[in-house]
Amino acid sequence: MLTANEIKRKVGEQAAELVQPGMTVGIGTGSTAYWLVMALGEKVRQGLDIRCVPTSRETAKLASEQQIPLIALNDAAVIDITIDGADEIDPQGQLIKGGGGALLQEKMVAAASRQLVIIADHTKLVKQLGVFPLPVEVIPFGWKQVQRHIEALYSIKSILRTKDDQPLVTDHGHYILDCHFNQIADAPALNIALNTIPGVVDNGLFIKMATCTIIGYPDGSVKESG
Ligand code: A5P
Repeated sequence: MLTANEIKRKVGEQAAELVQPGMTVGIGTGSTAYWLVMALGEKVRQGLDIRCVPTSRETAKLASEQQIPLIALNDAAVIDITIDGADEIDPQGQLIKGGGGALLQEKMVAAASRQLVIIADHTKLVKQLGVFPLPVEVIPFGWKQVQRHIEALYSIKSILRTKDDQPLVTDHGHYILDCHFNQIADAPALNIALNTIPGVVDNGLFIKMATCTIIGYPDGSVKESG
């Protein structure tokens, strides 16, 4: 039986095989994407010619250490493939992302990509999204107003994400409200509704974005679909 980390490594390395010479590649954030970056680093050092668009400062740092050439999203006319992790994946391939706090940049990079490949272990598969608290990225100004608005609208609780007893500040200077929906019956509608609330920058629902999932299991098997 594989450990959780071994499963993440396996799917990360399998996804790296999808990357072809000359590609522009979006590289995800988190403990599964870590193994993708490590595998791509190895390939680059062996001569693979690619350029990558990182989805967070954390991933940019890791990729630089691995000598992976990086370019800014602004300078990538088209991203051929983005490979990233997820916090929840439903049967339609809808996702909750942002457990690592990088949802905004991850969504922008994914939206600019021809393909979004999601790598994860089997524990991320759910029948319905919502048990994992949905991250909602908000402008710090008036954030409590936005929190009250969301909580009243959906009769839910939300928690301001913190780090070292201070509000966690995202790579783009925002805060994150982790929203405890428990069940999200209509993810596309919720995605649109949340993003129309003044002060909300974006949320962790990724709808109709994933084109492929690569899921690893403790017995060492990997299922690729899409
Ligand atoms: C980062 O903000 C997230 O969207 C990650 O992709 C997600 O949290 C999955 O992370 P792990 O691979 O560490 O579970």
